[in-house]
Amino acid sequence: MPAKPIVAVFRHPLSLFGMWLSAVSALLFLIFFFADLFSLFSNPYLGIVFFLVLPGIFVFGLLLMPLGVYRRRRRERLGRPLAQWPRIDLNEPWQRTVAFFVFAATAVNIVVLSLAAYRGIEYMDSVGFCGQVCHSVMHPEFTAYQNGPHARVACVQCHIGPGAPWFVRSKLSGTRQVFAVVLNTYPRPIPSPVTNLRPARETCEECHWPEKFTGDKIVTFHDVADDEANTETTTTMRVHVGGGSEKYGTATGIHWHMAPSTRIRYWTTDPKRQTIAKVTVEGPHGQTREYRAPGVSDAQLSGVAPRQMDCMDCHNRPSHPFTATAEAAVDEAIGLERVDKGLPFIRRQMVAALKQKYQTQDAAAEAIARSLREFYRGQYAQQYQGFEPKLNEAIGIAQNLYRRNVFPTMNVSWGTYANNIGHTDFPGCFRCHDENHSTKDGKTIPQDCELCHQMLEGAR
Ligand code: HEC
Ligand code: HEC
Ligand code: HEC
Ligand code: HEC
Ligand code: HEC
Repeated sequence: MPAKPIVAVFRHPLSLFGMWLSAVSALLFLIFFFADLFSLFSNPYLGIVFFLVLPGIFVFGLLLMPLGVYRRRRRERLGRPLAQWPRIDLNEPWQRTVAFFVFAATAVNIVVLSLAAYRGIEYMDSVGFCGQVCHSVMHPEFTAYQNGPHARVACVQCHIGPGAPWFVRSKLSGTRQVFAVVLNTYPRPIPSPVTNLRPARETCEECHWPEKFTGDKIVTFHDVADDEANTETTTTMRVHVGGGSEKYGTATGIHWHMAPSTRIRYWTTDPKRQTIAKVTVEGPHGQTREYRAPGVSDAQLSGVAPRQMDCMDCHNRPSHPFTATAEAAVDEAIGLERVDKGLPFIRRQMVAALKQKYQTQDAAAEAIARSLREFYRGQYAQQYQGFEPKLNEAIGIAQNLYRRNVFPTMNVSWGTYANNIGHTDFPGCFRCHDENHSTKDGKTIPQDCELCHQMLEGAR
């Protein structure tokens, strides 16, 4: 019956509008999808529009279509109180056409939606989405990430990991975070530790596992004095990284804590986990030792849930390493010869410039350059010209150190985030290894220097 073409069913303006919306958004989406396949775009904000907003509009359009059909029918039947099921009779040619149209359109829609869902999820898992979309919020972590050893590991590999349950959890908390950003109520700085981080066994250990670690690692530290000659001392030590497991011989060294047969748990009331009240060790044969900080009673710990020690209790900055102090940052730059020691007092001047408070990173960059230039112009007017090339290099390095470590708008500065590896700038290992946590019979968690590292050079 040509008198009833397909569009007749969808003649209501709502349906027509829905049809138009879906068609336009599907077309735009497909164009962008293919452009994206050939990597023609790299802006993470475009992704929001194309992979999250457009599919949303598409689905909204699809929903409008049956809604229009329903309203049109209702209007037609107004006056008849009893709702009736439509009578489907595929012998009628126009009904056959509609059925075919709906079937074909559904097939196409499923393809478009699957592509959209696939690309939308992939997009939300991308480093660009996590690190750059909420630019100022993630700026500190993203900057550190790019300069860290995991710059090629996607954020989601540590923060979400494989499997559906954690994916859903992360999307739920992600939605809350979007509101916090939109309403500008997010905390500055973003608090650490991340209390609901997935256990390391399911993330880090996909790539690194305790049996794999062995032996020692040679580490060198540079220290530079504040004198005119920028006198340097180096400390080189053999860090007993260790590893292994009972299965392949005994676990040794620092990674002994992570041997599969060892379970260390600790109790803390400090949200930053920097003071530890009680520690228990369960060995392979079921024996347990309990160490307590002086004066900690059971009553104080009632209701405190223990935390099982994992990689993150030491490696809490594996991907977002900030340098603890301006001194350490400058000393390393000089030690690695990025800054020329021939510039008199450069260590002292750089540290002083980096420790000042500035309103923004750009203001800092300008002020750092100005203060260093003024110093050498004032104190070394004669040699200034000769110094200039080295000085310009040093200024560039200083500005870079500031941009990597200090984020005034997020209240992140030197030492804001504790690093638990080591014990010189933060409590770190000495949270437990302080000779103060002891068992009932007086055994303590050792602080013997040679337990963890052997000094090879340098007299510190
Ligand atoms: C190698 C694993 C790893 C990768 C990759 C990674 N993170 Fe992290 N991230 C961590 C760990 C571990 C913590 C701190 C955990 C703790 O102490 O509870 C953390 C903490 C954070 C925090 C909380 C604030 C802080 O500084 O402690 C934010 C925000 C964050 N990461 C964002 C990101 C973003 C964005 C990316 C990708 C650009 C990313 N992370 C990639 C492991 C990772
Ligand atoms: C997707 C794989 C992957 C995951 C997941 C991963 N890492 Fe790594 N990790 C790497 C790679 C690759 C390197 C660089 C190796 C190198 O430089 O030799 C690395 C390096 C490291 C290093 C040495 C850093 C240095 O400065 O030498 C540490 C420590 C580390 N990872 C800890 C962790 C921790 C803790 C986690 C979990 C929060 C984790 N990794 C998750 C792949 C991964
Ligand atoms: C008790 C603290 C502690 C725990 C727990 C711990 N580590 Fe380490 N790890 C260290 C220290 C200390 C080093 C050596 C210091 C350095 O690399 O600067 C190290 C070194 C490493 C390295 C670099 C090894 C190399 O030879 O360069 C990797 C990778 C690593 N750890 C991964 C892990 C993973 C994965 C876990 C969890 C299964 C883990 N660690 C648990 C303290 C710890
Ligand atoms: C949560 C508490 C805790 C923290 C934090 C901690 N340790 Fe331990 N560590 C222990 C306990 C408990 C023992 C075992 C003491 C015993 O013999 O009963 C131990 C033992 C060790 C051992 C001896 C392993 C062996 O072969 O027997 C080394 C080495 C070590 N720790 C290094 C470190 C280093 C390095 C850090 C910091 C990066 C660190 N620990 C941080 C609790 C801790
Ligand atoms: C529980 C293990 C442990 C014990 C005990 C320990 N250290 Fe360390 N120490 C470390 C770790 C881990 C690092 C950091 C290594 C790294 O960053 O790669 C470190 C770093 C150092 C550094 C270099 C730090 C810097 O930033 O310049 C010095 C110096 C040092 N230790 C001295 C000592 C002395 C002295 C003792 C004995 C009183 C001692 N340590 C006991 C684990 C330990």
